[in-house]
Amino acid sequence: MSARERKFFVGGNWKMNGDTASINGIIEFMKPENLSDDSEVVVSPPTCYLQYVRQKLPVSIGVAAQNCYKAEKGAFTGEVSPLMLKDIGVNWVILGHSERRNIFGESDELVGEKVGFALSKGMRVIACIGELLSEREAGKTEAVVARQLKAIADNVSNWSDVVVAYEPVWAIGTGKTATPEQAQEVHASLRKTLSSISSQIGAQTRIIYGGSVNAGNCRSLAAMSDIDGFLVGGASLKPDFVTIVNAQD
Ligand code: PGA
Repeated sequence: MSARERKFFVGGNWKMNGDTASINGIIEFMKPENLSDDSEVVVSPPTCYLQYVRQKLPVSIGVAAQNCYKAEKGAFTGEVSPLMLKDIGVNWVILGHSERRNIFGESDELVGEKVGFALSKGMRVIACIGELLSEREAGKTEAVVARQLKAIADNVSNWSDVVVAYEPVWAIGTGKTATPEQAQEVHASLRKTLSSISSQIGAQTRIIYGGSVNAGNCRSLAAMSDIDGFLVGGASLKPDFVTIVNAQD
């Protein structure tokens, strides 16, 4: 199966940005007629705006939480459960983002458990992995992403509900994008790992790239055979996001 047969997937990770006025502006430029039918689009607002955004956007655009916990309910102050997300019509979640791992100390093990729990409750998951600059410079990129992917894979039974996001930490929010060749090399090795679970999982699972994707670099990245879309941070808050969604046109 080629990249063109896997539906192109573009996620917009708004992180901790926006207010009602700026979100209304984003909803305005996200009109379905502006977005290619060949792309699956999911946006991820801060938790307190999830329900508002879900109600405002058409159902053709998915909405993702930026995190959720691995329990249905209970004494977990500050957390949200997958059941709560589903209750408000949000059925995607980003898990294992590098900011969760590196600022909030989430381990591979916790990320894996969260992925397994969210999937078991019927959520679809954007599972993030990626190496630090020091790990790349030490030649450890493949080993690091393989370790992170294994911790996730051990908790996945239905891969059709999972999108893997490769986001080199040194490229996130820095303006330093991986070159198409650097990203392709890692994506190909991740696909090989997925293919070792089953050839179908390797062929069908979308592996998207994240890290300083913008309207100028999205086309050359999208042209690589194992890059099936993007997870976009900063540029997802601007009309450039539409160009990125349509990068394959
Ligand atoms: P960026 O963030 O596009 O601002 O680099 C990407 C991400 O963190 O998902």
